[in-house]
Amino acid sequence: MTEPVYTRSESGAGPAPRPDAAPPEAAEPRAVQPGAASQPPAPSQSLRSALAGVRAEVGKSVVGQDSAVTSLLIALLCQGHVLLEGVPGVAKTLLVRSLAAALSLDTKRVQFTPDLMPGDVTGSLVYDAGTARFSFREGPVFTNLMLADEINRTPPKTQASLLEAMEERQVSVDGTPRMLPDPFVVIATQNPVEYEGTYPLPEAQLDRFLLKLVLPLPERDEEVEVLARHAAGFDPRDLRGAGLEPVADADVLARARAEVSQVQVSREVLGYAVDVCRATRYSPSLSLGVSPRGATALLRTSRAWAWLSGRSFVTPDDVKALAHPTLRHRVQLRAEAELEGVTAEGVLDTVLASVPVPR
Ligand SMILES: Nc1ncnc2c1ncn2[C@@H]1O[C@H](COP(=O)(O)OP(=O)(O)OP(=O)(O)O)[C@@H](O)[C@H]1O
Ligand SMILES: [Mg+2]
Repeated sequence: MTEPVYTRSESGAGPAPRPDAAPPEAAEPRAVQPGAASQPPAPSQSLRSALAGVRAEVGKSVVGQDSAVTSLLIALLCQGHVLLEGVPGVAKTLLVRSLAAALSLDTKRVQFTPDLMPGDVTGSLVYDAGTARFSFREGPVFTNLMLADEINRTPPKTQASLLEAMEERQVSVDGTPRMLPDPFVVIATQNPVEYEGTYPLPEAQLDRFLLKLVLPLPERDEEVEVLARHAAGFDPRDLRGAGLEPVADADVLARARAEVSQVQVSREVLGYAVDVCRATRYSPSLSLGVSPRGATALLRTSRAWAWLSGRSFVTPDDVKALAHPTLRHRVQLRAEAELEGVTAEGVLDTVLASVPVPR
């Protein structure tokens, strides 16, 4: 058994690590704060502590990857789907399995293989000899938290069946629509697309994912800690044995989500989020900029991050902090730019540096 080393956020004082970019600053520019009279109630401490507890549970198995853990919480608060990318062996699967173990939600995991059929994901009609009728057998997509592991190893037809279910939150088989449970969140993992034997997800459908997270390789001291835990007997297949327990449920998430929806956004900050998205449309390096749907996604994720940070209003720094994970998969590089080594991250950095911030 290993000891949890997660020390930064158990206090419930909010997520210490940044989601992906600069953390929100303490200084709050006046222009972006709502007036005192309209101030909504502050995020409730007990709900934020419950979510900090989820982080602490995940930390019992996963070393580091703090920004990914925070971002997964943001996705749960937004009921949005996540694409998790990283080279093999950086704990993508372990991270999502740990998150599932820390929540009392129905979870299912599907390993996407080259021979997986759409019906293996959504469910299919099966013949019941007893009643001499066809009845629908639910596929693994009928769950609260679905881990779609290595989604880009399955051919497009099966990918499409999941992407449709994600978008519509229902499955239609034989003309009958069937609603998926609430909440329904898909966390899909994929290896970087240039790997052999992979089918890249259709770019036009990538924006069904609220966030795209890129898991980095660990720092040296983190990697030493991973090994230390293994040396002490940590077994990644036995998360219960590592002490992970469910510490939050659908009710906590629903109440937190209700508070997130009360988080205020001033007209100036809305304008800032829109300006950031619009600037991507004029970037000479991009053939496709962020759509208005992407702009609404940025609003949702910024709000959830403001709430997690203990604030009842969104600042431009919240928008900045969530811009990379929310927008990186919603832009398309021009071939020439790609050849010159330009990346989506680089373009977003340029955009964030050039768009005036409301004060
Ligand atoms: N940050 C980390 N914290 C704890 N364990 C880690 C970490 N990174 C790697 N490991 C170890 O490496 C193992 C491999 O992780 P996992 O199977 O989750 O990787 P993956 O990213 O899903 O790989 P693949 O792309 O091959 O599916 C884990 O079971 C764990 O033992
Ligand atoms: Mg994996």
